[in-house]
Amino acid sequence: MTAEPEGKVALVTGGNRGIGLEIARQLGARGHHVMVGARSKADGESSANELRALGFRSSAVELDVTEPDSIHRAALTAVSEFGGIDVLVNNAGIAIDGPGHRPSEPDFDTIRRTLDTNLIGSWACARAVVPHMRVAGFGRIVNMSSNMASMELTADEESPAYRISKAALNMLTVVLAAELRSTGILVNAASPGYTRTRMSPNATRTVEVGADTAVWLATLPSDGPSGGYFYDRSPLPW
Ligand SMILES: NC(=O)c1ccc[n+]([C@@H]2O[C@H](COP(=O)([O-])OP(=O)(O)OC[C@H]3O[C@@H](n4cnc5c(N)ncnc54)[C@H](OP(=O)(O)O)[C@@H]3O)[C@@H](O)[C@H]2O)c1
Repeated sequence: MTAEPEGKVALVTGGNRGIGLEIARQLGARGHHVMVGARSKADGESSANELRALGFRSSAVELDVTEPDSIHRAALTAVSEFGGIDVLVNNAGIAIDGPGHRPSEPDFDTIRRTLDTNLIGSWACARAVVPHMRVAGFGRIVNMSSNMASMELTADEESPAYRISKAALNMLTVVLAAELRSTGILVNAASPGYTRTRMSPNATRTVEVGADTAVWLATLPSDGPSGGYFYDRSPLPW
């Protein structure tokens, strides 16, 4: 295996709290400059300050993944201030259809909002960074998926919008990885598992553990996998 790349520029969407903030912290500890993408500038600044207080390199960038102008501005900031983006972690996500939602009784407003953030938002962020990664001949894109995206592991009808958005994100991972084969850009999906955050307050898994697979994929060596779906650094059944 070749050496792990160091000193890269990483953009973590939804990096202001939860698993995203922990991914940002772990990437900072590995010497990356971490751009904390956050909808609220104040939240982003506060988290970037937290990381700098730990001795890591970090800055905040205002980023709403459902707003194309916001994505464009964030990518421009990365290029003008840091020369590009080496790592994109598409972490921002919402889970707004609970156990009460049924696929036979679709709430299309909830479904559209979920797809807009979890699928289209991640796709649009990837589109914004891929041209710069192509020029650099290097890139790592990590899409935050879920065990709930697995067709093989799914046995109930709960949270259909969330499951479908993440299953579609898995397919985006596969087709983007195929297109970018031999460019130096590796694209993978990570499931953090059921992790205690504002999204899953009753979970017992810690953010340190939940973030680990995404950080591993964000720091893969050049001969690492691409187009995969991983949980605890092991492949998950699709
Ligand atoms: N926790 C789990 O059990 C679990 C399990 C499987 C997968 N995941 C996935 O892991 C990722 C992180 O989850 P989490 O548990 O850390 O959730 P969380 O605590 O709810 O944090 C979600 C983050 O996404 C941001 N966000 C939401 N919509 C956004 C938008 N339109 N633009 C930019 N940022 C946006 C939030 O920003 P604000 O602070 O502005 O709201 C927040 O920073 C998500 O993709 C989630 O689906 C989580």
